Amino acid sequence: MRYPSEPYKIKVVEPFAVTTREQRQTFIEEAGYNTFLLKSEQVGIDLLTDSGTTAMSDNQWAGMMMGDEAYSGSRNFLHLQDIVRKYYGFKYIVPTHQGRGAENILSTLMIEDGDYVPGNMYFTTTRAHQERNGASFVDIIIEEAHNSQFDHPFKGNVDLAKLQDLINRVGADKIPYVCVAVTVNLAGGQPVSMQNLREVKALCSRHKIPVMFDATRCVENAFFIKEREEAYRDASIADILHEMMSYADGCTMSGKKDCLVNIGGFLCMNDHDLYQRATEIVVLFEGMPSYGGMAGRDMEAMARGIEESVDYHYIQHRVAQCRYLGDKLTEAGVPIVRPVGGHAVFLDARAFLPHLEQEKFPAQVLAAELYLESGVRSMERGIVSAGRNKQTGEHHKPKLELVRLTIPRRVYTYAHLDDVAEGVISLFKRRDQIKGLKMVYEPRLLRFFTARFEPL
Ligand code: F0G
Repeated sequence: MRYPSEPYKIKVVEPFAVTTREQRQTFIEEAGYNTFLLKSEQVGIDLLTDSGTTAMSDNQWAGMMMGDEAYSGSRNFLHLQDIVRKYYGFKYIVPTHQGRGAENILSTLMIEDGDYVPGNMYFTTTRAHQERNGASFVDIIIEEAHNSQFDHPFKGNVDLAKLQDLINRVGADKIPYVCVAVTVNLAGGQPVSMQNLREVKALCSRHKIPVMFDATRCVENAFFIKEREEAYRDASIADILHEMMSYADGCTMSGKKDCLVNIGGFLCMNDHDLYQRATEIVVLFEGMPSYGGMAGRDMEAMARGIEESVDYHYIQHRVAQCRYLGDKLTEAGVPIVRPVGGHAVFLDARAFLPHLEQEKFPAQVLAAELYLESGVRSMERGIVSAGRNKQTGEHHKPKLELVRLTIPRRVYTYAHLDDVAEGVISLFKRRDQIKGLKMVYEPRLLRFFTARFEPL
């Protein structure tokens, strides 16, 4: 079957808001045309993010009752440590309150002023932490990733020539680590091939540069490797995941995605010295190294979530849901990023609204209009998310100007996705009437979260 049905039964339900267009008009004005600022109770189908929005299983909820909330040495930490060692293969794990907590510790420990951190496309919080510690981010993703219409099975791959050029230009000692995201969120949830991961590791080893993964959506990446890389067709998701991680020296993880929990994250590494220094810092920012910002019950839910995440039927259905929505939109002629990735469908706002130049925030207005049209909440991933160049103060102008329809894990059904598609398609039909926005409030850091806009 092309789109496998849900491999779970629904035991608990959560009603969501049904609103009128008039109500939504008031709500979006109050929210400054920023979908981040809408109240949850004003939203119908919520595709803002797949982060922390997962439905946990009965097994995970049962684990929540087994929380050992001891200040130190919680048995849930020991369980989580065992599970991470088993599935991810790293020696040491430092729990954090979420992914950016791990990014903070990694960037603080490894980066020195004037360093360069290459990565396969930026992510907002990841780059913000790198820059905060004095590094410049350098994009080393393959060029195809910047073209929304280019079909490529592994559009998240690192361009080895770009990486080699940077090493030649600045010297290996100015590169504290290479950050490889598996998958690449802002490229459209695009995967990295096993072969590319192997090659990146080999190149970095020659120059003694550590490789750190952003493992946030690593299970989705493992699924694409199984689907698209011949040698792995018969391999299990768990085995693929384990091999992927063997090409890294450590990772940051937002457990809110592929660990199937609502909160939590961790930092992993094999180097004992780095681990020891990380345990010193985690005490300062998060908590004891045996809980690092998470309750015992949250660590138990995460340990159980990691085991569930490598189930083939779970991950096959998850990716199929994204593809289902993407296929419906493509059939109706709506421009989306191709191929559809692992966690979302991305509308190409440049092609959707060709009459709006990037300074009029086409993706921002498209997200606001989709909410008005249908009550569906999505997220801008374009010029607003990209922020400003720290040196020049100019807007970063990413080639990709996108709206992300992000599918939470185990939350919605194909029928919900039909409704989403209907909303997008009816908006597409009246796209000529959509006008741009001006920014009237701009926060200095990570502006997309709280910026406010008005119609032009
Ligand atoms: N790395 C990637 C690739 C992410 O997508 C995120 C979060 C983080 C790191 C940070 O993790 O939120 O747990 O601190 N992405 C969310 C999103 C916010 O909606 O894409 P966090």
